[in-house]
Amino acid sequence: MGVLPPRTVEALRQTMTIYDRVRHVIPEVEWATFAEDVEAIVRLKKERNAIILAHNYQTPEIFHGVADIRGDSLALAREAAKEKNADVILLAGVHFMAETAKLLNPSRTVLIPDTEAGCSLAESITADDVRLLRQRYPGVPIVTYVNTSAAVKAESDICCTSGNAVQVVESLGVPEVIMLPDEYLAQNIAKQTNVKIITWKGHCEVHERFTADDIHAFRKQHPGVVVLAHPECPPEVVAASDFAGSTAHMIDWVGREKPARVVLLTECSMSDNVAAQHTDVEFVRPCQLCPHMKKITLKNIRASLENLTHAVTVPDDIAGRARQAVERMIAVG
Ligand code: 13P
Ligand code: SF4
Repeated sequence: MGVLPPRTVEALRQTMTIYDRVRHVIPEVEWATFAEDVEAIVRLKKERNAIILAHNYQTPEIFHGVADIRGDSLALAREAAKEKNADVILLAGVHFMAETAKLLNPSRTVLIPDTEAGCSLAESITADDVRLLRQRYPGVPIVTYVNTSAAVKAESDICCTSGNAVQVVESLGVPEVIMLPDEYLAQNIAKQTNVKIITWKGHCEVHERFTADDIHAFRKQHPGVVVLAHPECPPEVVAASDFAGSTAHMIDWVGREKPARVVLLTECSMSDNVAAQHTDVEFVRPCQLCPHMKKITLKNIRASLENLTHAVTVPDDIAGRARQAVERMIAVG
């Protein structure tokens, strides 16, 4: 490293123990560009009595550097429901995650650093669409993925995530459900239950790009590689992989099985975050970036805590019904 300004040198000194967590995946010269923001965010969290919830797809300097709670969509919803002490909850993730945290914490300030951090699944369906589905399939319960707007959740009976979808579908005790909006998730879940599932045509723009041919190529190029896929991938991709599960299930699998070589068919930052903790595992990286998740940066997290922007709001007439759908999901356990 060349000569650094004294302020950066001091920030590097202050954040050295945090850097130790990501040393394996972030070079020291790159950490020098993060250190001042990390130091400022640590200070701002104390001043604001704020906590940061980060999804597994956040970059390592956020995920390991400044987050207090990390996890998949289910863990973030559960932890948001449990949160009792913080005045401010900042969601390092996408908008539907912040909205879910707000539903579960109506009296607290919930921040999203960039309101443009959306999701192709959440965009694929509206509350009007759900009302039409209810008319078309009277009496069939509607199970809605958390990757949706609060307005869509409000029209649903119960929410689910990729981590609990089978349990949620089976908890209803009915022969048939509508599951929306992710067609591939619904098709993958249908293979694990006797409940008939009516699907919608939404797709995750990240996971829909993986193909079964990709998997055959990885196996050829990287002998012995273990392939883990997210259930938002097309069914033929899940069928060609060795294990499929939510981001948290994939992380647990790597920790438990300690494969010598693994490829995670999901968003790119997952491999970086897991590699930071499992330095003995080789990660093969043909990953896909989520442009929405990548809208969150250390700089806009810092600005968000400084200015309390952007506070998430949900209209009262939607919030009550949407909260019920999320709370029903959490109650399934
Ligand atoms: P999970 O972390 O719940 O598996 O969800 C993945 C995802 O794509 C979130 O946007
Ligand atoms: Fe949405 Fe897919 Fe991005 Fe997750 S990875 S936020 S499901 S577009």
